[in-house]
Amino acid sequence: MISPSKIGFVVACCLAAYASPILEVDDVVKHAWLTVPQGWVDIGPPPADYIVDLKIALKQGGFEDLVGLLHEISDPLHPSYGRHLSKREVEELIAPDQSTHTIIQDWLVSHDISLTSASYSPARDWLSLPAPIAITEKLLSAKYRTYEHLSTGEQIVRTLSYSLPVALHAHVDLVHPTTMFDRMKAMRTTYMLDAALPAAEDIPLSCNTTVTPACLQALYRTSGYVPQAADKGNKIGVAGYLEQARIHASLIPQFRPDTVGANVTIVSVDGGLNDQSLPGTEADLDVQYTEGLTYPTPNYYYSTPGTAPTINDSVTPPQRDEPYLDWLNYVLALPDEEVPQVFTTSYGGDERSPMNGQCTCPSPFRTRSSVIEHPITRVCGMFAQLAARGSSVIFSSGDGGVRAGTCETNDGTNRTLFQPVFPATCPYITGVGATYQIAPEKGIYFSQGGFSRYFDRPVWQAAAVPPFLAKLGTTYAGLYNLSGRAVPDVSAQGYGFQVVVGGQVESVGGTSASSPTFASIVSLLNDYRIANGRPSLGWLNPLLYSIGVSGFTDILLGNNPGCGTTGFNATEGWDAITGLGTPDFVKLQELLGFI
Ligand SMILES: *[C@@H]1O[C@H](CO)[C@@H](O)[C@H](O)[C@H]1NC(C)=O
Ligand SMILES: *[C@@H]1O[C@H](CO)[C@@H](O)[C@H](O)[C@H]1NC(C)=O
Ligand SMILES: *[C@@H]1O[C@H](CO)[C@@H](O)[C@H](O)[C@H]1NC(C)=O
Ligand SMILES: *[C@@H]1O[C@H](CO)[C@@H](O)[C@H](O)[C@H]1NC(C)=O
Ligand SMILES: *[C@@H]1O[C@H](CO)[C@@H](O)[C@H](O)[C@H]1NC(C)=O
Ligand SMILES: *[C@@H]1O[C@H](CO)[C@@H](O)[C@H](O)[C@H]1NC(C)=O
Repeated sequence: MISPSKIGFVVACCLAAYASPILEVDDVVKHAWLTVPQGWVDIGPPPADYIVDLKIALKQGGFEDLVGLLHEISDPLHPSYGRHLSKREVEELIAPDQSTHTIIQDWLVSHDISLTSASYSPARDWLSLPAPIAITEKLLSAKYRTYEHLSTGEQIVRTLSYSLPVALHAHVDLVHPTTMFDRMKAMRTTYMLDAALPAAEDIPLSCNTTVTPACLQALYRTSGYVPQAADKGNKIGVAGYLEQARIHASLIPQFRPDTVGANVTIVSVDGGLNDQSLPGTEADLDVQYTEGLTYPTPNYYYSTPGTAPTINDSVTPPQRDEPYLDWLNYVLALPDEEVPQVFTTSYGGDERSPMNGQCTCPSPFRTRSSVIEHPITRVCGMFAQLAARGSSVIFSSGDGGVRAGTCETNDGTNRTLFQPVFPATCPYITGVGATYQIAPEKGIYFSQGGFSRYFDRPVWQAAAVPPFLAKLGTTYAGLYNLSGRAVPDVSAQGYGFQVVVGGQVESVGGTSASSPTFASIVSLLNDYRIANGRPSLGWLNPLLYSIGVSGFTDILLGNNPGCGTTGFNATEGWDAITGLGTPDFVKLQELLGFI
């Protein structure tokens, strides 16, 4: 256990004298719950020597300007199309004002907190510092408790309320960990071990039920394409969390013999594990399919711990901080030439879970159009930074059909409610749903789709989504948000993937299979563009919903039941189970190759 003195906390008696008088006025609640969020139970106080890894999201300078530029460089009709921003340009845009740094530092010092152990994100818009629990509670007028999740047993240290001096409210978007009761899970609920599978070498090429890289190459028409930009800087990144890290890239040749020598660079983010003794089906699936489809394009696997190393004293709960933040801060700090042009991630959580309680919200989470006070919108804004630097960020849309979490509202009425999965609902991300079978390919029952309650329908969905809503009519009125950002954007096969795990072939399904598949096709498109002197595709959505539409095979069959309903139907045009459809590489290459 780390003692407070070792991490730089000093009783800074005399520095406090410099504190700004403005900070001496009463604290005002920043966010509070009336009750413990649904699904969690208070199991007692954290240990007295518990250290909170505080992260303070400072008000960004020009986030709106960044988003404005991102739209221009991602609009194929705009003269700036493809002019991705550099790390420095992004950081200069969003850097907080000096007055923000000054007031925050005054505040910390006035609480006897030394800044020697504090660190900043590259744009200095996040301030991190480890703080003993007693000091944190005083700083935030908070009362931390250990909460356990009823169904998973997961433990987190959170508070039901926190406050900041009123003068700080305009300078701080949020402080974490405080009232965000987040959960994140791998998208692999349909993952299954099929003991009856034939030995690997006997696997028939019946892609209708058994999917291998060769099946996907044939189905999405990449078979004839030979990557040419592997030595010109093209890369694909896979993000892994929750200690899924065992990689068996060497076993890929079983399904794609020409990939002998394929290699995956494993990057440990912030102490992420690559323990070869841990089970890692998700990691194996991701990497075997990205490598299987993009070889010889360099593949990078980013292993971010979902839980910090557990202190084995039975009283200290594993620390579960927001792992996206750690991962995002890591990749955003990479020099431009090291950032992969495509990322795939097969993790997500219920969009609503951080709001899973009755909120007193004295300082409203939702403010006008520039909503960046909510943790979800702040994290989404970090994906926008990555997009602005020319990366396509691709996530699984989820495996719950129309259902995530409980199907009920938590306002006391227990009304039925559909729910999508975050981060797929973040507009700067491309969300991938799942299909199965061939000729015809159909939307599969678990493919998650729906409508965000945090993000408005973006302008690039203005043509695609309303026809679907019109067909739906009043069916499900009130169960989903008519005006929300719609997911998924696209889809790809997600059932019966053959994956080698610990020497055995497993049959794996889920949108966790669809995301690496779609990301690989985007990586091949980037390869083609880079080989022809073009920039990477970057943020895909405005492109896919405009000139990209005809590069997809529209999926017309399937529905995604849940919450006691049959869910949404796959229909002509965009739908809330398969999005725009599945990719046709040859057509996309023609449409997007030279813009
Ligand atoms: C795919 O499998 C399904 C279910 O077994 C079957 O109904 C369908 O005819 C098959 N399709 C093809 C093209 O073989
Ligand atoms: C794979 O890459 C790693 C670096 O990430 C390197 O240490 C290793 O030797 C490579 N293996 C092969 C077989 O090329
Ligand atoms: C931690 O404790 C549990 C039981 O309390 C034990 O099973 C486990 O092996 C311990 N782990 C380590 C790393 O000591
Ligand atoms: C709503 O659900 C909660 C939790 O299951 C339960 O305690 C409560 O009684 C329910 N309320 C109504 C009106 O059914
Ligand atoms: C629909 O989503 C928007 C944000 O996109 C939000 O302002 C609105 O409250 C949501 N409506 C419902 C009924 O959830
Ligand atoms: C989906 O299609 C079925 C069969 O055509 C139809 O009965 C059902 O009403 C449709 N559901 C929705 C939500 O559109």
